[in-house]
Order: sequence, then structure tokens, then C-alpha cells
Amino acid sequence: MYKGKTIWITGASSGIGEALAYEFARRGAKLILSARRPDELERVKATAGTYGNGPDDILVLPLDVTDEAQIATATAQAKAFTGSIDMLINNAGISQRSLCVDTDMATYRKLFEVDVFGQIALTKEVLPIMLAQGSGHMVVTASVAGKIGVKQRTGYCAAKHAMMGFFDALRAEVEDSGIQVSTITPGFIRTNIATHALKGDGSEFGKVDKNIAGGMDVVECAKVIMKGLERGKREIPVGDGPEMKALLVKRFFPNTLFKMVRKMG
Ligand SMILES: NC(=O)c1ccc[n+]([C@@H]2O[C@H](COP(=O)([O-])OP(=O)(O)OC[C@H]3O[C@@H](n4cnc5c(N)ncnc54)[C@H](OP(=O)(O)O)[C@@H]3O)[C@@H](O)[C@H]2O)c1
Repeated sequence: MYKGKTIWITGASSGIGEALAYEFARRGAKLILSARRPDELERVKATAGTYGNGPDDILVLPLDVTDEAQIATATAQAKAFTGSIDMLINNAGISQRSLCVDTDMATYRKLFEVDVFGQIALTKEVLPIMLAQGSGHMVVTASVAGKIGVKQRTGYCAAKHAMMGFFDALRAEVEDSGIQVSTITPGFIRTNIATHALKGDGSEFGKVDKNIAGGMDVVECAKVIMKGLERGKREIPVGDGPEMKALLVKRFFPNTLFKMVRKMG
């Protein structure tokens, strides 16, 4: 169903975005790959090209989602690539590893610039294109952290909760115009997310923690996400650890969940 369709993925230089790029390449989609590091995007393009797509079917479009001027220019370039944008996957993101008491306001603002305002700004640029097409699929990689608050991630959880709210509200506005909206809620997935997470002073955490090290394989994760997208699911949970069960506990026994997360490291 994605053959010849144009799919724009942010955060495509690593982790979940990279794995999704390969899944779409296998299905014959035309790809727009964005993130800040052009060399890593070229590496992903080269690998995606081995799945059947020619070099002309993949556009490397470096983009820092916190730069609004760049977002406008990049969107024009993305639209010019094939003339349409069939899916935007707002997947770029950074996490946090610091207690609230140790976290600078500047660090909270940085988390929100990338994880919230970057996604909103890009979505707002692409939305009129999809509305004019009368079709399109808006996707965001939110998180289980968008449903549950856990220690050392006050800013990240707040940002991901914001994204769940934003895209649920957007869905209500645009679904009748032929535009689908899907929120992906991954649990722990083995990627570089912890390594690049921000400490309280805004510096990088710089290592993998045990939750992420024991998380779901990223290729498997991408396959689950693809199945959800192909079925047009509005919400796509993905993960294989106890954090996925926590979603149900939160829904039906919130106090039990609050006690559980208090005990977590
Ligand atoms: N791994 C997990 O356990 C997990 C769980 C729930 C949700 N998520 C979410 O999944 C998404 C992907 O993360 P991941 O796990 O795949 O981690 P990752 O491997 O660290 O990938 C993060 C991606 O975001 C890009 N990025 C970061 N800041 C950016 C910016 N300012 N502008 C543009 N791109 C930026 C990075 O590329 P550059 O450095 O090249 O810019 C990279 O491609 C994130 O939104 C994350 O919050 C992950």
C-alpha cells in the first residue's frame, strides 16, 4: 500500500526512524529522510537503497526541527521532491535523565523545543499540503512516557503527554478531511535514546541505561509500527516489557500504578 507513496521521516538518522525507513523502502515507498546529521542520513539512504529503491527515490533532507526557518524551507523542498507528502512521521526526539530538583529551566526548554515545538511547527507546515491533497497520514512517535510519569523524566514525560494531547486534538479536527492521525507509544526500545538524553545541566547522559539495554529490538519495533500504520490504527503501542502492562494498570488502577513507579529506580 506504500508503493510510490512519499513518506517523510524525521529522526531518520538512527534508531526507530532509521528502522522505519528500511521498512518503507522494502515496500517501495519514496523516502524523505531528515535529522541533523547529513552523514548519518546518507548512510541510511545507502542501506535503504539496497532494498529496491533507486537513489532518486530517496531524498536526504537535513533538518533541525528546532529551527522554524529551516522547517519552512525543508517543507518546500519535501513537497517539490514528488509533488505530494503522503505521510509525515514526527519521530525526532531527545530524552532526559535527571531529577526535577537538579534540572535547569534551560534543559526543560530544550526538551520542549525538540520534542514538542519542533513537531508542532513541522506538522503545521505540512498540514495545509495534506488538506489540499484531501489525504495524508500524520504520525508522531510519542511514548509510554506520554501516558505515565516516571522518575528522572519530568520534562520528557511532560513533552510526550503534550504530544499525545496535540495529536489527539488534531485528529478530531482533520479526520473528516481525509487525514489520518496516528500516535505511536513505544515502551523501552534498544536505540541511542538514553545516550543522547539530557542531564539536568543540559549535557548528554552519555550511556545506555538498563531499561533501554533490555528493551525491544528496534527492527522488531519497526515491524509492529508498520502493521499498526497499515491497519490505520489511531494509537500504536509497541514494546515487550512490563511497561506495556503499566498502561493498563494506569487506566484501571491509577493508585497502584503511582505506587509502582515510586518504587522504580
Ligand atoms: N527508544 C525508546 O525507548 C523510545 C521510547 C519511547 C519513545 N521514543 C521516541 O522515539 C523517537 C526516536 O527515538 P529513538 O529511540 O530512535 O532514539 P535515537 O536513536 O536517539 O534517535 C533520535 C533521532 O532524533 C534525531 N534528532 C534529535 N534531535 C533532533 C533535532 N533537533 N532535529 C532533528 N532531528 C533530531 C536524531 O538525529 P540527529 O542527532 O542526527 O539530529 C535521531 O535520528 C523519539 O521521539 C523518542 O522520544 C523512544
